[in-house]
Order: sequence, then structure tokens, then C-alpha cells
Amino acid sequence: MNTPVKFTTSQIRSDFLEFFKGKGHTIVPSAPLVPGNDPTLLFTNSGMVQFKDVFLGAEKRSYVRAADVQRCLRAGGKHNDLDSVGYTARHHTFFEMLGNWSFGDYFKKDAIAWAWELLTQVWKLPAERLLVTVYHTDDEAFALWRDMVGIPEERIVRIGDNKGAPYASDNFWQMADTGPCGPCTEIFFDHGDHIAGGPPGSPDEDGDRFIEIWNLVFMQFDRQPDGSLQPLPAPCVDTGMGLERLAAILQHVHTNYEIDLFQALIRKASELTGMADLENKSLRVIADHIRACSFLIVDGVLPSNEGRGYVLRRIIRRALRHGWMLGVRQPFFSKLVPTLIEQMGHAYPELPAQADTVVRALQAEEERFAETLDAGMKIFDDVAAKVSDGVIPGVDAFRLYDTYGFPVDLTADIARERGMRVDMDGFEASMEHQRETARAAGKFGGGVTLPAELVATLSPTVFLGYDALQAEGQKVVALIKDGRPVDAVQAGDEVIVFTAQTPFYAESGGQVGDTGVLSAAGVKLAVTDTQKFAGQFHGHVGTLEQGAIKLGDVLAGTVDGARRGATILNHSATHLLHAALREVLGTHVQQKGSLVAPDRLRFDFSHFQPITAEELAIIERKVNEQVRANNAAEVHNMGMQEALDFGAMALFGEKYGE
Ligand code: ALA
Repeated sequence: MNTPVKFTTSQIRSDFLEFFKGKGHTIVPSAPLVPGNDPTLLFTNSGMVQFKDVFLGAEKRSYVRAADVQRCLRAGGKHNDLDSVGYTARHHTFFEMLGNWSFGDYFKKDAIAWAWELLTQVWKLPAERLLVTVYHTDDEAFALWRDMVGIPEERIVRIGDNKGAPYASDNFWQMADTGPCGPCTEIFFDHGDHIAGGPPGSPDEDGDRFIEIWNLVFMQFDRQPDGSLQPLPAPCVDTGMGLERLAAILQHVHTNYEIDLFQALIRKASELTGMADLENKSLRVIADHIRACSFLIVDGVLPSNEGRGYVLRRIIRRALRHGWMLGVRQPFFSKLVPTLIEQMGHAYPELPAQADTVVRALQAEEERFAETLDAGMKIFDDVAAKVSDGVIPGVDAFRLYDTYGFPVDLTADIARERGMRVDMDGFEASMEHQRETARAAGKFGGGVTLPAELVATLSPTVFLGYDALQAEGQKVVALIKDGRPVDAVQAGDEVIVFTAQTPFYAESGGQVGDTGVLSAAGVKLAVTDTQKFAGQFHGHVGTLEQGAIKLGDVLAGTVDGARRGATILNHSATHLLHAALREVLGTHVQQKGSLVAPDRLRFDFSHFQPITAEELAIIERKVNEQVRANNAAEVHNMGMQEALDFGAMALFGEKYGE
């Protein structure tokens, strides 16, 4: 190679951003690993995630060219590399993606020309070591590489025969099963003929010789749930380059784990575990996992038994088990955090800012798992010694999961190391059995569901209750008795009454529904609860004490104001409590659920350990101070940024419009 310069990962990040800034791109910060309001995705798995709505035309930004360094996680969902980490030179759970974007601005020509310029002129990669792939029908990209860039035809490979699958899997990128997608062209680096592996498209393409470094996606479609492709409002560009593998090339090393950033983590892990061989697989796993776990915690995820929290727990426990394999019996994992901050803190200031939370959450999880790891490993050994077919029975994997906290992929990982495997179907069956048992125990009386025919005739209830506790003119649009729609109800009936508009607040966001009275001449309904049906219809639940009501009647409503007032106070109190919890326990405390009633409130949140009596006393004191201060509550309407500047809290996982 003709450059003597050793590029550090920091240098590479800034070179990349500088280059695209010079090409008119706005530099944007990395989005969190947890995508805002996107149910199709568990984690940010590539740079384009935060721009999804921009591609779809549903969101406008003040720029049409952007570049960033995005933290990504591929450990669950469509893109999942967790099981490969430690076994290959290049798979990671967490990685950084350098990306540049055009939102209906430049397209194939500029994207290709700039990628080539950066690689060969700024970083001086020798052109003869690069080859590219194009989507098999993309003659335009093929011609650009050949004629504009000058790559010989034999180093331009057409890829992406769909081989009978509903859509091409290679050189056609999509973020998830639905959403923006399009054909791509990929740039590969040839590590040299001393390494096994063939060029892309060849039978031994999975070898380590030819490594994809940059993917340029020509975003053109929005994949629908039925699999069909709708064109995007305008063609866009989405590129992604793996920082770690690029660094390996620029630092003249072969595996990602040999780059500066990973070496620092591996040296620290070596010191903590006593494992002197820096190429040891467990050290690599630990170095990979500390990045994923720390950034997940930074982005608001805490270990738990479901969803994202469970992915985090699995990664932490996998790392701890690798430490255990190296003979470590003391907490060690969280001690890598300072080294991680040295390496990555300048690029991601949120990491040092949350260091304390990260360390405490990791420590707590380490302490918790330490109690069962040892015993679980003994169980595993006993089971493994007894089986003759190399298959760990599902019931045993389930026992390890249920009693010893071994995520099943952890058990599978241990089995794999010993040339064994887990009976996954058996594990699932045990799991399902337990779910059934839990479900049977948790059954309670079924609620009322509005029939679809009825829903189709109704408009969403207009809520008047922000300003008023009383309203005339509540026209009856639906009546439910004994769970079924009826045209009229009589005195003595237990009913649910739906009106076109109402001042009654329906239970939502944890705040209980209003009570009060609906009445007309000679008619009185005592409303004991207000519930929301089908997400948008306020149903007044109660007993008709006098008179009769039929569809089309007009009622007057009066909400129990004292009760609503008390509920509002408790709602304010949840915000005071939230603020006090964040001050005393840390800013990781986020609302996971709540109940707000006239007489009490409940606030659900995650913390990595029980709250001490001392902490509780401080929290109570802080809340009471604010209650006694009796500050005025006022409503102000303002733009998003103004609100943030004003000190409003934007909750993680939620996306707000302007
Ligand atoms: N979104 C593309 C990828 O992740 C660039 O490869």
C-alpha cells in the first residue's frame, strides 16, 4: 500500500465528515440506538433509520444533503449478528456507520464519484485493490463505474438474481420488512491473495479476502406490507460504510479487532481477566459487547425480561459468561467503561455524560447474574455429561432460562463451543407451556368490544373537557347494554352511552376516567366511569337511575369536578415525582406506565436496584417541597425547539412533530 499514514478511527470519522461537508452536506448527530416511534424496528440498524420519514416524503428537513457517523446495533430483528460475534473477524453487535444522504437531490453519478474520490484520493486506497458490485439490472451504475470511474469490466460484478425469492436479497437493501428500499452498489476491498476467499458472487465469497466496505443504496421504493413496491416521492441516496472494517484496512490490519479502538478495549479486558493472548475469542466478545451494552444504556435501555431490555440482558450475560470462562469470578465488565469513554467519548458526548448510569446498571446486572451463573454452569455440565446425542434437551435449556437466568441463546452458545446444540423446539414447548399457565392464572372478565359495523358509523368523540366540566347538547350516537348495541335503554339498566361530544375524560395515559351525571328532563344516568373504546370513542359507563334514553336524544353532562380536580393534582404530582426520581436516582429514570386517580398515583419506572430508605426519604422531601411551593401551572403553546430550550423534556422513544 502506498500510504505510510496510520489513520486512527477518530481521524477517519472526522475525515469523512469534513469531506462531505465540503460537498455541501449538513453534518447531523448520531440518532439514539432506540428509534423514535418506529414499531417496525427494534434498534437503529443503519444510518438511514433516522431519515426514514424523509425518504417517504412524510417529513421535511431544512437540508437535502446530510452526512453523519451513526451508532448502530444489529442484535435482534431483521439484521442480527449477535451469534456471529467472536466467531468471525468482522461481525459486531454494535458498530459505527459512516453515511451520506441525498433526499431527492443528487443521485447515482455523484454518489459514486464522491465515494471513489474519498477512498482513493483522501485515504489513498489503491484503485487496483477495489472492486464493485451492482444490482444485476442496473446498467446505469455499471456504466458509471466503467466509464466515469474507469474500473475494468472484470472488476464490476452484477449481483442480485432473486433465485425464486419474492425479491432480490443481494444488492437490494431494505431496513426492515417494510419501508424504504432500493438497489445498491457495493465497494469491496481485496485484502490480498494470502487470505482465503473469492470475489463477491463466487462460491467462496464468504471468505475474508474480499471485504465489503461501502454500500451505496439508490433508494427508490417503499416496500408495502403485502410485499409490493411503491415508488418514493423522489429518488434518494443512502450510503453506509462500516467504520471498523475501513479502519482495519487503513491501519493495515486484517481483523476489526486489531484496530486502535478495539485494541485498547482488548488490552483492558486482558488486564481485568488475566488472559494474556490478545487474540483470544472471549476478549473479543467482551470488547464488542461493552460497546453495545454501554450505548444501549446511554440510550435509555435497562436490562429486563422483555423487548429491548432483554436483548441488552442477553448481551451482558454473554459477556459475563465469557469472563467466567477466562476464570474471572469478580465483577469486571463495568470496569471497561472508562476505557470505552477514552476511545469514544469525544465522538459521542452522551457517553461520558451518562457514565455513572452505565456503570451502575452494568454492576447491578453483574451482581444479579453472579448469583446464578456458577450454579447454572454446573447444571449445564451435568446435563451435557448425560446426553449421548449431543443435544441439550429443551426442558433443561428452559430450566437454565427460568431458574438460572440463562438466555437460551447463551445456552446455545455454550453448547456450540462443545460441539453440541440445544433442542430449540423443546425449549419453545416448555416456554409455551409456562405462558399458558400464566395466562390461565391471569384471566379476568372480558371487556366490551364495539362491533366493527358500529365503529364504521361513528366519528371520534369530540373532547370538550380541557376547558369545561359541563356541556349541553351531548347527542347520543350509540348505546350498549349487556355488551351489545341497542336503540334504547330503560331505568335500572346498566349501560354504556356514547355521545358525539363530551366533557368526560376517558381513561388514558394512566389517568382514570371521569365520573358524574348525564341528564335530561326526567332522565338521570349516574356515570361511574368513562372508558375509551376503539381508541377514540368515549363511553360513559353507569346505571340509568331515571327515565329512558334512545339514540338521537340530547343529554347534558356534568363531570364530578372535585374528583377531576383531585386527579389533575395527582397527575401534576407524577411529574414532580418523575423529576425528583431523576434528580436522586439518575436521568435514566423514565416513565414506563402510571395510574393517576383522585386519591392516589402510581408511577412505573426502571431502575437497576431497589431504592433505599434513604433515597426514598429524599425523593419524598423533594416532591413535598414542590407541593408546598404551590407554583402556578400554566399552559403555553410553542414550537418544538422553543419548548426544548424552555426546558421541556422530550421522552425517549417518542417522536414529536414541530
Ligand atoms: N442502509 C445501507 C446499509 O446499511 C447503506 O448497508
